[in-house]
Amino acid sequence: MEYPFFSEKDSVDVVNGRMADDINPRLKEVMTSLIKHLHAFAKDINLTQAEWEFAIDFLTRTGQICTKERQEFILLSDALGFSMLVDAINNRRPEGATENTVFGPFHVEGAPELPMGSKITLDGKGDTCLFEGRVLDLEGNPIAGARIDVWSDNSDGYYDVQQPDIQPKWNNRGVFVTGDDGRYSFIGIKPVSYPIPDDGPVGQMLAALGRHPYRPAHMHFMVVADGYQKLVTHTFVGEDKYITSDAVFGVKHSLVAPFEKLDGGEAQWRSEYDFVLVKNK
Ligand code: BEZ
Ligand code: FE
Repeated sequence: MEYPFFSEKDSVDVVNGRMADDINPRLKEVMTSLIKHLHAFAKDINLTQAEWEFAIDFLTRTGQICTKERQEFILLSDALGFSMLVDAINNRRPEGATENTVFGPFHVEGAPELPMGSKITLDGKGDTCLFEGRVLDLEGNPIAGARIDVWSDNSDGYYDVQQPDIQPKWNNRGVFVTGDDGRYSFIGIKPVSYPIPDDGPVGQMLAALGRHPYRPAHMHFMVVADGYQKLVTHTFVGEDKYITSDAVFGVKHSLVAPFEKLDGGEAQWRSEYDFVLVKNK
């Protein structure tokens, strides 16, 4: 038999056949599939040399704009719906459990732990909103000692870390720990929609695809409790004009929360939402 040199027809077998037998089996599985799908993609679209060079340049620019604060590859994964796909594969949950959504780049470790009911909005801007509810197990029992880390943009559509010289540190962030009743409450703002960073290659890609860069208004929650799966999610404002066209595909029906207008009192709005956690396997 002739030695199987590279050809268009046999490209997948030739490349995958070069892998040694005694390598990490998971690496072998992943790379075999990656080569299969990557080669099929190029054949499917008859990829031109110019298009491939454009793609290399795009990926180069995506890497070059990355800094400690800016991760353009994660943004690319988000904008392609890939972050949500990986999240969905890794967080299949039973009916009744709160669904995960994308983590995003704006969480900051170390936000202050505050008493229940505290105000987390420190810049005095925006409509105040009381967020409250319970952390429950699948049977409806309250979970004590659940740590709820929350973060949102301000009413101008920026997270504090995007405007370190303008916003107070920890603006619209806090951590709350539930007591025996599983209840949480805090006063933030009714969040507003905002664009994902769109001044780099991902923004150019969105524009070329006729897509806007906006995320519908949301409040981020990360809920951690001993013995339970970690929940990373948001609640969304249902009437937001971008609710059906989130730039990163993070919206799920079950995560659209009620926001009711209040008359008088410390907050102008109230949003009640219970988080239901699943026990660790
Ligand atoms: C966020 O919601 O904070 C976010 C998620 C993905 C990309 C950019 C921002
Ligand atoms: Fe966000």
